[in-house]
Amino acid sequence: MDIKTILVIGAGTMGRQIATSCALGGFTTILQDISGSALDEARADLEGWTARRVAKGKLQAEIADAALARLSQSTELGACAAQADLVIEAAVERLDIKRSIFAELGKNAPAHAILVTNSSTLASSHVAEASGRASQVCNMHFFNPALVMKCVEIVRNEQTSDETIQSVMAVARALGKEPVLVNKEIPGFIANRMMGAIQREALNLASLGVASIKDIDTTARTALGHPMGPFELMDLVGLDVTDFIAQATYSETGEDVDQPHPMVTQKVAEGKLGRKSGEGFYEYRG
Ligand code: CAA
Repeated sequence: MDIKTILVIGAGTMGRQIATSCALGGFTTILQDISGSALDEARADLEGWTARRVAKGKLQAEIADAALARLSQSTELGACAAQADLVIEAAVERLDIKRSIFAELGKNAPAHAILVTNSSTLASSHVAEASGRASQVCNMHFFNPALVMKCVEIVRNEQTSDETIQSVMAVARALGKEPVLVNKEIPGFIANRMMGAIQREALNLASLGVASIKDIDTTARTALGHPMGPFELMDLVGLDVTDFIAQATYSETGEDVDQPHPMVTQKVAEGKLGRKSGEGFYEYRG
């Protein structure tokens, strides 16, 4: 399918970077959010990001300007949906909200439009029926920071058509990503299951007093070649997000091993959410 216009719903950490990635990939892109101030904040953030890359000599000024010109913003979901060939939903991780978004998309998006969710915790089968076009729905899961990370998990539900998968894979490749196909809806898909196992072990080692958080992170980087240690990564992703993923996984599997870890839950209760709040397992003052 010929995809020219992409609508990204949600101007949060993920949505704004996914939208920029789409604009840089040559697609006419609309970033939609119910909050005008969130859209303005996202725009300022993205202009700063592109300006820094231009200053570093990693992005040509004309390419950056053209991408920013291709990226518009709006608070009107229905009107934007009517223009889209592909919709990437990156709204809040709440099923009721996602269902109502997919119902609205089903009513307003052109009949050929593909509707995907960036959700890492809600499989697309939960929203597919609401859209009235289940065969054109799947997960398209990006990783944080979405402008940098190459992987995109494309997760099919039982009704997703092969054509839909091929089109979404082609878009991911056009964004310079390396899509992987997940054939079954399983909590955590591929990456979060592997990341969860590492985080769980890291949290257990720290809570047993086997080593400090810093030394566990250093070991992951220097012995295993990971770009970040597990605690640094949880701070990047957000401890609220980490805790939410664990809760969502546990509620689906019911397995003790998937229970949220008390060290993370405690930090969230204290408002220590990682980089975004200035403190998580580490401090990020200034
Ligand atoms: N947003 C956009 N770009 C960013 C960024 C951010 N938050 N953080 C870093 N970058 C860019 C930098 O601008 C820099 O770009 P250039 O090379 O073009 O100049 C590049 O990334 C490298 O950054 P740094 O040199 O500052 O630092 P680094 O080499 O340590 O890389 C990192 C930073 C890319 C975040 C790297 O540490 C890394 O890959 N960490 C692991 C991230 C990861 O595992 N993400 C998956 C999280 S799980 C998830 O997202 C799933 C989920 O459902 C929650």
